[in-house]
Amino acid sequence: MAVIANKKNQEMKIFADATDLFLFAAEDFCQRAIRAVREKDVFSVVLSGGNTPKSLFVTLTANEYKKRIPWQQIKFFFGDERYVPASSEASNYHLANEYLFAHVPVNPHHIYRIPTEFDDPKDAAKAYEKTLREAFHIKDDAIPPLDLVYLGLGDNAHTASLMPLNEVVRQYVAHSTADNDHQLVAAVVVAGSNMQRITLTPTAINNSRDIIFLVAGANKANAIREVLAGKHDPLHYPAQLIHSIKGKTIWYLDQTAAEKLSSGNS
Ligand code: 6PG
Repeated sequence: MAVIANKKNQEMKIFADATDLFLFAAEDFCQRAIRAVREKDVFSVVLSGGNTPKSLFVTLTANEYKKRIPWQQIKFFFGDERYVPASSEASNYHLANEYLFAHVPVNPHHIYRIPTEFDDPKDAAKAYEKTLREAFHIKDDAIPPLDLVYLGLGDNAHTASLMPLNEVVRQYVAHSTADNDHQLVAAVVVAGSNMQRITLTPTAINNSRDIIFLVAGANKANAIREVLAGKHDPLHYPAQLIHSIKGKTIWYLDQTAAEKLSSGNS
């Protein structure tokens, strides 16, 4: 494992392969959960979507982690959701439920699913924003003090459902919305399709204590290079909008995803 970047509040670890990445990430999750529960009796974590998290979930169902992790004191949230039924194979909640929640002793009352039953996805976004604040017992314009947000990275440098050129991204790029804005959740449409999604905003994500990007695979190498070593252009590379204000922004990459970061590979 190479520690490449250790800027003030950014950290990067590159792993020989995805197996090493997820073994490390699982132990990291375990230690974070234990520490947080010891300090404040709760650990609040936002799970990312797509396929990458599946390997982390499977690793966390090992007997060692069933015993060591204080599952009952963990509050699980989601960084984004496809606007499909919770039973759909495309649902991020469905993936987490099938590969993690069904195998470890979580408290079902501490799983905060993004609702997808509203006719209007904007109502779902409003409902989830209310859920987030209620889960932290905070008032209407406060920002939840999340402990950890996991994020993936699309091969077009999107993260959560903050897609290039989408309305939420445009607002942040135009500074018409800043990290202290109080909108936590937004409904977006994926350009080029009629797929609706619900996503946490950069405000909700950047106010988390720590943020961890889990990125594996050669198909992410261009996006990693653009986001981390390319020009600052968050409109086209929305992951550049993400930076933990209070803690660390951490990148756990496998070698193939990081291969274009060094020696200026084209
Ligand atoms: C989603 C995710 C999305 C994902 C990236 C990476 O709902 O698809 O939230 O942001 O993290 O697209 O996806 P993979 O892990 O499948 O490569």
